Amino acid sequence: MNLNTKQFFKKAEDGGYAIPQLNVSSADQMKAVAKVALELKSPFIFGTSEGEGKFLGLRQAIALAEVYEKETGIASILNADHTKSLEKVREYLDAGYNSIHIDGSLLPYEENLEITKKAVDMARKVNENISVEGELGQIGGPGSSKILTEAVEIKEENLTSPKQALEFVEATGIDRLGVSIGNMHGISNITKPKLDFERLSELHEILKEKCVLVLHGGSGIPDDDIKKAVELGIRKININTELRLAFAGALKKALEAGETTPYKFIAPAQDATQKTTQEKIEICGSKNKI
Ligand code: G3H
Ligand code: ZN
Repeated sequence: MNLNTKQFFKKAEDGGYAIPQLNVSSADQMKAVAKVALELKSPFIFGTSEGEGKFLGLRQAIALAEVYEKETGIASILNADHTKSLEKVREYLDAGYNSIHIDGSLLPYEENLEITKKAVDMARKVNENISVEGELGQIGGPGSSKILTEAVEIKEENLTSPKQALEFVEATGIDRLGVSIGNMHGISNITKPKLDFERLSELHEILKEKCVLVLHGGSGIPDDDIKKAVELGIRKININTELRLAFAGALKKALEAGETTPYKFIAPAQDATQKTTQEKIEICGSKNKI
């Protein structure tokens, strides 16, 4: 698999668009995502959380990503999403992932800095062009990609401080920074995410020459807000909950209708995944960028 993932983000920064990260936990989802990306000529990233990667199998995920790379002609980026330990980073790198996200955002600042720096060193030893993402500030919500029935409190003190972000990026050498700017994981029935655009502009102004900015919790944010975030400097957007809802909703409908042939009940779930992926590609502005 392509090991120069940094160049994709450089192109996104230069072109002023964002690359969507679509989280997947099955071959069916990967196939659907790759198909749309090819049709729309869009760069894209497969993301697997620790749970998703474990379910898929890291080497199986790589093998599938390689197949889609060959089939689509679009280089596959496979990102280890929200990796919480250096042992996991090692596992992902050994398996052949070409993009790493080390998430020390819940740790005290100094510990986050230390684990992130170590993860960067580990990735650089495998290949200096592997793109590494760190995270600073605490993103809202309990950290799961699902519908939340509770309210989510976004505290000012958990938002990413531009000053601290500059220090963090310079000290760790990361290529990408996941930021907390009012975004949250999952979709809450009660709290609607409200992005702090002023903070985002400031972060972009300070960091644009040093790293690219990542928006986690891409589900449930109104399209216009995502577009504005891209205009103001977001270059990667992570989407999971909406993909899960699309897949599960269509699958449920097909099963409830009595369908028992797997390729017949999975196909509508893939169609729904494609529709959501297409919408996200459109708002990221990544269409026709290959
Ligand atoms: O890292 C994954 C994402 O941040 C997904 O967030 O489930 O709210 O779309 P989401
Ligand atoms: Zn995330």
